[in-house]
Amino acid sequence: MQGAANIVHKDTRKLKKTPNLLDYEKTYKTFNWQEAESEIDYFKDKTLNAAYNIVDRHAKGKGKNKIALFFEGQNGEKEKHSFLNLQKLTNKFANVLAFFNVKKGDRVFIFLPTIPERYIAFLGILKVGAVAGTLFPAFQEVALLDRLLDSGAKIVITNSVLYPRIKKIWSKLPNLEKVIIVERGSVIYPKDKRIFYFNQEMKKASPDFKIAHMKKDDFAYMLYTSGTTGKPKGVIHAHHDILQAVWTTKFALDVQGDDIYWCTADSGWVTGVVYGILGIWGLGGTSVIFEGRFSPASWYKVIQDYKVTIWYTSPTAIRMLMGSDVAVKEFDLSSLRFLGSVGEPLNPEAVWWSLEYFGLPFHDNWWMTELGGICIANFASLDIKPGSMGKPMPGIKAAIIDGDGKELPIGKEGSLALKPETVSSLMKTIWKNKEKYNSYFSYNWYISGDRAYQDKDGYFWFVGRADDVINTMGERIGPFEVESVLVEYPEVVEAGVIGKPDELRGEIIKAFVVLKAGVEATEELKEKLKDYVKKHLAGHAYPREIEFIDKLPKTRSGKIMRRVLKAKELGLSTGDTSTLEDY
Ligand code: WTA
Repeated sequence: MQGAANIVHKDTRKLKKTPNLLDYEKTYKTFNWQEAESEIDYFKDKTLNAAYNIVDRHAKGKGKNKIALFFEGQNGEKEKHSFLNLQKLTNKFANVLAFFNVKKGDRVFIFLPTIPERYIAFLGILKVGAVAGTLFPAFQEVALLDRLLDSGAKIVITNSVLYPRIKKIWSKLPNLEKVIIVERGSVIYPKDKRIFYFNQEMKKASPDFKIAHMKKDDFAYMLYTSGTTGKPKGVIHAHHDILQAVWTTKFALDVQGDDIYWCTADSGWVTGVVYGILGIWGLGGTSVIFEGRFSPASWYKVIQDYKVTIWYTSPTAIRMLMGSDVAVKEFDLSSLRFLGSVGEPLNPEAVWWSLEYFGLPFHDNWWMTELGGICIANFASLDIKPGSMGKPMPGIKAAIIDGDGKELPIGKEGSLALKPETVSSLMKTIWKNKEKYNSYFSYNWYISGDRAYQDKDGYFWFVGRADDVINTMGERIGPFEVESVLVEYPEVVEAGVIGKPDELRGEIIKAFVVLKAGVEATEELKEKLKDYVKKHLAGHAYPREIEFIDKLPKTRSGKIMRRVLKAKELGLSTGDTSTLEDY
């Protein structure tokens, strides 16, 4: 592999392993999802269960003693589980849920750090036919209430550290019947008959379970994601998503038999679910799960200790590694053979840096929560043009279109769109919001909301979001959610929130805040507001920058014009302001 001009050239004969997808052009022409079905297992009655594909089929066969999961806890404690063991544990948990009368279609949410119980619970929920929801551990009461109330979650699985946040809002959650507390680390035993304990229940449960037979489109998991307006929306995915998860893990992440795979994404986000659970175990692969905090040394040590071969991470993490003086050379990272990145634009420097330091380039890929799996990728066998998201996954039709749904010529910037029927793992619906679901589609295209262009070699290049959604450290944040929390603060009248470009984090959240008359605009108040958002919404979703202003730009109908705030912030022209009220 060498970096000449602006391209990372690949010679597939010189790679450590022959890529699963060797001939992209040929495969792209011939691949079809019907034939690809042979990669997943159905029951005799033509139903399926994603968890059967993820665990049971491997536990029954040759791979039963293969390690599915290596776990390293935050205090260095280690644990490992074979597929057979994972089958027993997930069966037990499915029995626990069945005992609690959890039925097909019920929503069960997981609010845990990165520990094995998070994965066992997720798969147990799928086995019983319920819908699994995952929650990011940084969420605070507002974020939790939005999600648990809207989904009508029946059970939440959490631990003693996080439980107090649920306790605060439980009285507002009429559907929440029980909380199951995992006894890892310190445990408190509140006197509440609705609280149960993971290990105590697991002890009573049988390791045999009759797995639920599900139709292809039956709901399997849901994740809340942010848009420009309103509260987060519940994106619903089905059991059959396992198909795209498995194929993309094979083609876009190049996972093969004895690989040791580490996806660093938290399973509160879609990448942690699809590529931390569905894809890797769907393929019968070995995955590393690391609870410890991020630091360059702690991450490099994981790669060294577990001899990680495939590493899937995010641009912000890569930039943090680039900016650190912990020498890559202090660790033996020679096991690595394929690097992937997702979630936000990967700057070309990061690719050149990794080529220099790891001898391997990062392969950027693109998708969205709504799409359920990678759609555009830089593949192991293809040259990389650093800065580009790559080419469409075989089976998937992507295009750049104009406002009338017409495909635009090469090089023209437009709206990045996909043919919905070619995305096997496309969401099934938006929970209780058909209108929102329908709004994603026009002229027979799925509209991503991203602006992009395609070059003459078929590579897609990301330009930016078409809406006000903020992408900070790879996480999607809706400005409205942050604004709503800010205006709850007694001294605040109103707030407008934008994403401000940031070298390290992609974007940071910046809030423009109007204070009540007579309130003094101090630095101290800024800090108080930041803390308030951290404590009430989520630890990561707070405005790193706050500016007090007298008035927000608004349309005559009263909508905050965030693009005007952004243009002012960036020193750009504010564009057409004819619809604005006086400003
Ligand atoms: C952005 C994460 C540039 C994009 C899997 C998309 C990217 C949104 C990339 C989805 C990439 C994701 N380059 N931007 N490679 N990947 N995005 O739902 O704006 O958390 O629409 O899914 O992240 O974010 P989500």
